Amino acid sequence: MNYRHAYHAGNFADMMKHGLLLVILRHLLRKPAGFCVLDTHSGCGIYDLSATEAEKTGEWREGIGRFESLPDGPEELVDYLRCMTGLGVPKLYPGSPSLIASVLRPQDRLICCELHPEDARTLRRNFRFNPQVAVHARDGYTALKAFLPPRDLKRGLVLIDPPFEQGDEFDRLAEAIVRSRRLFPMGIVAAWYPIKHRTPVRRFHDTLRDAGVKDLLDCSLLLRTPTDPTRLNGCGLLVAAPPYRFDEQARALLEAILPVLAPDGAGSVEITRIAEE
Ligand SMILES: C[S@@+](CC[C@H](N)C(=O)[O-])C[C@H]1O[C@@H](n2cnc3c(N)ncnc32)[C@H](O)[C@@H]1O
Repeated sequence: MNYRHAYHAGNFADMMKHGLLLVILRHLLRKPAGFCVLDTHSGCGIYDLSATEAEKTGEWREGIGRFESLPDGPEELVDYLRCMTGLGVPKLYPGSPSLIASVLRPQDRLICCELHPEDARTLRRNFRFNPQVAVHARDGYTALKAFLPPRDLKRGLVLIDPPFEQGDEFDRLAEAIVRSRRLFPMGIVAAWYPIKHRTPVRRFHDTLRDAGVKDLLDCSLLLRTPTDPTRLNGCGLLVAAPPYRFDEQARALLEAILPVLAPDGAGSVEITRIAEE
């Protein structure tokens, strides 16, 4: 396991993923009944943007670092940036567990899994005083069977955000989406993936369609046309059972961050229905 999120926290991919994650959480928060979030690949929870790791790549400077003041943007962007500032930006960048934990009400729960022993220790330390957050140092893929459907809570979200270190990660991700939908049909699933070139993404979508998964929306943010597969040209978030009007909100958010993240105008946003309800 070589991947450490501390090198990448706050980059364009985190902005895309966490901005959309917050939109989904706001939908879950609309109803009084409690919900559960299972975050299968959690990372450390919060990152110091002045630490050696963050400084070494400087990725956050090309991401959240470009947003120095509140823009006249859509409410999804303003909500995300306000939330980030409240959680420590520009000194700290909150990872998915911190963002999720920050909006939980007493009736909601968060289950986090992290396989890297050191990051799992940091994550556990970060949430040691929060009884609503359970931290497990374990494989997030096998955790699906262990924690779904959530005990007592009928609503929720499964966030799957793997590091894509292994060649078969798209297959594992597709399998995890299928399994999550089967084990927790009432839940939303959000799965992040990198876009280096289009072929693996098309195959990923085909695999999900062939498996009969319904109600799939794909959101992608490209910084440039993905012709050079050695670069991270963009990323996507595949959402199963998206909330009402999530497609419009996702588009508004991504179209507002794109010109700041890719000012040369070479980027694009695509919101595509992969499978109907
Ligand atoms: C992209 S990072 C997660 C970032 C986090 N979700 C966020 O948004 O702040 C992926 C994480 O998955 C961890 N990881 C890798 N393989 C895993 C597995 N099979 N199960 C759980 N965690 C894993 C890595 O150590 C890394 O911290």
